[in-house]
Amino acid sequence: MRIHQVHLITSAVSPAHYPEHDLPEFLLLGRSNVGKSSFINTIINRKALARTSSQPGKTRTVNFYNVEDQFSFVDMPGYGYAKVSKSERQQFRKMIQDYIENRDNLVMVIQLIDFRHKPSEDDVAVHGWLMEHGIIPMVVATKVDKISKNQRPKNIKDILNTLKLEREDLILFSAETKDGKEEVETVLDEVLQI
Ligand code: GTP
Ligand code: MG
Repeated sequence: MRIHQVHLITSAVSPAHYPEHDLPEFLLLGRSNVGKSSFINTIINRKALARTSSQPGKTRTVNFYNVEDQFSFVDMPGYGYAKVSKSERQQFRKMIQDYIENRDNLVMVIQLIDFRHKPSEDDVAVHGWLMEHGIIPMVVATKVDKISKNQRPKNIKDILNTLKLEREDLILFSAETKDGKEEVETVLDEVLQI
């Protein structure tokens, strides 16, 4: 899909504020600062429509983007970041659960993992929780540009072992170099049957 037209539909804090529409939704999930908002900007060919920051905790609402009137990206606050207060983290967790358990529009979860580190306890817990709900996420490792080519096989192995994935289940991605963009687009097209 060639993407030209994108706009923010709404920023919601509770299900009552979610938009009523028929668009299939792709949910971005991952720790704060992993690059969820940057991922969206990369796929929609915009520099900064989704707001990003080097400070974790930038996205604090559930943001729905309309992409070409074909589908919606749903950008969420990150999970499990220590600098976000405990009550706020619980609130974010509830937002994520509410959305996943009740949203009929959801067609795919995109779980982002920081390629530089082994998946965190939170990453593993969220991945397990999704699988228990019968949701097989697209797993995308971000910030691949920050790791040299000869170090990559070790990081790949760590992620596959920790999340019990096969190599074809993992997409290596960089918002900086656009690595992995085409692979992601292929999956989106398959899900949307374009
Ligand atoms: P929250 O909204 O806080 O949950 O964070 P987020 O997951 O939306 O992360 P965001 O997209 O705001 O990115 C966090 C920081 O990482 C920003 O400084 C980005 O520029 C940087 N970043 C994101 N993706 C990449 C990448 O692929 N490569 C590099 N080098 N930096 C990246
Ligand atoms: Mg964000």
